[in-house]
Amino acid sequence: MRMIETFTQDQNGGSWLEPSTLTTNITYPHWLESWWMELACQQSKQQDPHEMLRSFETEVRQLSDTFTTERKEGFDAYQQQTSMLLAYGLFYFPQTFARVRYPLLELLAHRKWSPPLERPLRILDLGAGLGAASISFAHLFASHPTLQEIEITALDSSRQSLQYFRKLTKEQSAQWPNVSWDIRNADLRKTESWLPTSSPHWDLIIASFSLNEAFYGALDEQIKWTELVLTRALQKTGVFLILDPASQEKTHRFEQYRDHFADHARYHVWSPCLHEHPCPLRQEGKRQCHEVRQWEPPDSMTFLNRRLFRHITSLKYSFLALGKQPAPAFSQPEGQALFRMIAPLQNNKAHAQMTGCCTDGCKREFEWLKRCLDKPTQKQLVQLERGDIVHVTSLQEMSRDGYVRLQKDSSCTVVHPTPLVLKGKNADSAQSPDDAS
Ligand SMILES: C[S@@+](CC[C@H](N)C(=O)[O-])C[C@H]1O[C@@H](n2cnc3c(N)ncnc32)[C@H](O)[C@@H]1O
Repeated sequence: MRMIETFTQDQNGGSWLEPSTLTTNITYPHWLESWWMELACQQSKQQDPHEMLRSFETEVRQLSDTFTTERKEGFDAYQQQTSMLLAYGLFYFPQTFARVRYPLLELLAHRKWSPPLERPLRILDLGAGLGAASISFAHLFASHPTLQEIEITALDSSRQSLQYFRKLTKEQSAQWPNVSWDIRNADLRKTESWLPTSSPHWDLIIASFSLNEAFYGALDEQIKWTELVLTRALQKTGVFLILDPASQEKTHRFEQYRDHFADHARYHVWSPCLHEHPCPLRQEGKRQCHEVRQWEPPDSMTFLNRRLFRHITSLKYSFLALGKQPAPAFSQPEGQALFRMIAPLQNNKAHAQMTGCCTDGCKREFEWLKRCLDKPTQKQLVQLERGDIVHVTSLQEMSRDGYVRLQKDSSCTVVHPTPLVLKGKNADSAQSPDDAS
């Protein structure tokens, strides 16, 4: 089983809350890949792992079509078929595992959100499916040096999915000795069946790629439901993290959802926006705000993809983190800016251009002439990705509205997710990421 032997083991070292240790190397664990492989071999009665993987191509193709096209009647039938769930476990589970980490790490490392240390951390996973988001969080928090216990509640309307999820938590219990699991079959929309009757309970609520299914075509209902969840389920210091597939649709459904909460006095947007002003992308009506993250899929996924040709080395998603308290504000000195890249880097011959959504809620184009940069720095520019949080110094306003120029003495620091410092030819020292907030 070459693909399993060559897999690198996860490493957790250094100070837990240091951005550098938190944000790099989101590696899908070897034991998790093996668990799904062995289960799929057993259930499909195949001994050879490669044969087994080949036998799931049809299901992965069907799932992929299901998730990328318009929702049709009976769309969720895939959850009643064992082979489809196993295909999800082999191909989509790893993607969720990695994807949900980025926004969580951003909250921990850059938005100063922290889990409670004096009592158990309580997590709720809504529309948990096979449990990839919960497992990813359990795996991350299990390495925390001072967290007491972690209580994870997970809800889904698919009994079949939850059976596999329970099996996994039981068989791999050694991976998370301080985690207790409460995995329930419930319809997340029917809040009376699961919302606490007393005080709000959870510190971290996650809905990964589930609200788009549960509230398909029903944004108003989703907004009302979210308000109820925030009020009745989320602790005062908690965050509710919602991930949605990044779609091509021009309706700006997700931005509309986000703007509702940015405009609401009782709730606050923590991420991805570094502000609570109206979304400039929605106002412009052009692109949907989303992230694209490069990652290294497990070998089994790469093998399974050999004849499917899906873009598996990048994770594409939209997300929104909401809280009841405002996120710590960013203040920027004159001549500096902190922004999220909301478009891919435009790397032209004479200049590079970053499109940023800034802390004041404005969209700006940041231009850097190549002659301000030495050759190695010019090469490093390509590492900048859509979704990166970037801090730039020594800016010069341009006469063109919304355009700003970096200069020879400017620095450009990627604060999240992968720290990177780029300096103009004359910049002797760049601001550290900590100075940016
Ligand atoms: C695409 S899967 C995502 C699963 C998992 N959160 C992940 O990211 O891998 C969507 C999940 O949402 C669940 N779901 C959809 N509507 C639901 C509802 N009304 N109540 C509970 N679960 C629901 C489905 O059963 C399914 O497991």
